[in-house]
Amino acid sequence: MGLFSSATQQIPEVASVPKHIAVIMDGNGRWARKRFLPRVAGHKRGVETVRDVVKHCVKLDVKYLTLFAFSSENWRRPVDEVSFLMGLFMDALDREVSKLHQNNIKLVMIGDRSYFDTNLVEKINASERLTANNTGLVLTIAANYGGRWDILQAVNHMQLALPALAGQFTEENLYPFLSMHYAPEPDLFIRTGGEMRISNYLLWQLAYTELYFTDTLWPDFDEAAFNLAITSYTQRERRFGRTSEQLHSAT
Ligand code: IPE
Ligand code: IPE
Ligand code: MG
Repeated sequence: MGLFSSATQQIPEVASVPKHIAVIMDGNGRWARKRFLPRVAGHKRGVETVRDVVKHCVKLDVKYLTLFAFSSENWRRPVDEVSFLMGLFMDALDREVSKLHQNNIKLVMIGDRSYFDTNLVEKINASERLTANNTGLVLTIAANYGGRWDILQAVNHMQLALPALAGQFTEENLYPFLSMHYAPEPDLFIRTGGEMRISNYLLWQLAYTELYFTDTLWPDFDEAAFNLAITSYTQRERRFGRTSEQLHSAT
C-alpha cells in the first residue's frame, strides 16, 4: 500500500475544503485579444492570477495546488509564443521563489525537463531544493507535462524497478512512479476559459476528481470566481460508486 490510497481501490476521506486542487489555466490568449493586445500580454497577466490563487489556497488551507502551465502539445504553438512562455517561466521563478519560500510553500515541477534549456532546468532544481523542506502549501507546476507521458514513464520505471512483478502489477505498484506520487489524487479540477476538455492533463489522477468548468478567462479568475468553484465542490455528492442512500445512512 502506497502513501496515498487510490479512489478506485478505497473510498477516500471527503472534506468540505478540497485537499488537492488541479487547474488548467486557460484563456490567456482570448483575454488579450479581447483587449486588442498580443496574446502574450494575457500570459503576463495570467502570472498575477497564479499569485492570487496561491493566496486563496493558503487562506482556505488547501494542501496541494497543481497548475498546468505548459502542455506537451503546447510546443506546437508559434516559436515566438513558446519562447515568451519559457522566458516568463524563468522571470516568475526569479521573482516569486523567495516569496514562496518565506510563506513556507513547497514548489515542485512535474513534466519532462529534458526539452528545457539548461538555465531553466537549473533554476527549477534550485527552486525545488530551496523550498524542499517547507511544510505549507505544495505548489506543483506542470510544465511540458502530458498525462500519457506520465503514465508511460511510470510504467517503464516500474517495470525496471520491479521486474519480478511483471504481468501482475497493481495500482499501488504504479503510484510511486507517477509524477504526483507525493500527493493524493485531486479532489477538485478547475478549467477556466470555457473549453470542456482535459487536454492530456493528469489522466490517471483525475479518475474520481470533481470537474468544474467556467467560462471565466484565467486572467479574470479572481477570488469571487475561485470561491464559486469551491462552493460548487462543497455541493457535490462524492459517491465513489455507492448509492446516495448508502451515503446518507453511513454515520
Ligand atoms: C493558457 O491560455 C495558457 C497556456 C496554454 C500556456 P491560452 O494561451 O491557451 O489562451 P487561449 O485558450 O488561446 O485563450
Ligand atoms: C491546456 O491549454 C494547457 C495549459 C493550460 C497549459 P490549451 O489551451 O493549450 O489546451 P487545448 O490544446 O486548447 O485543449
Ligand atoms: Mg487555450
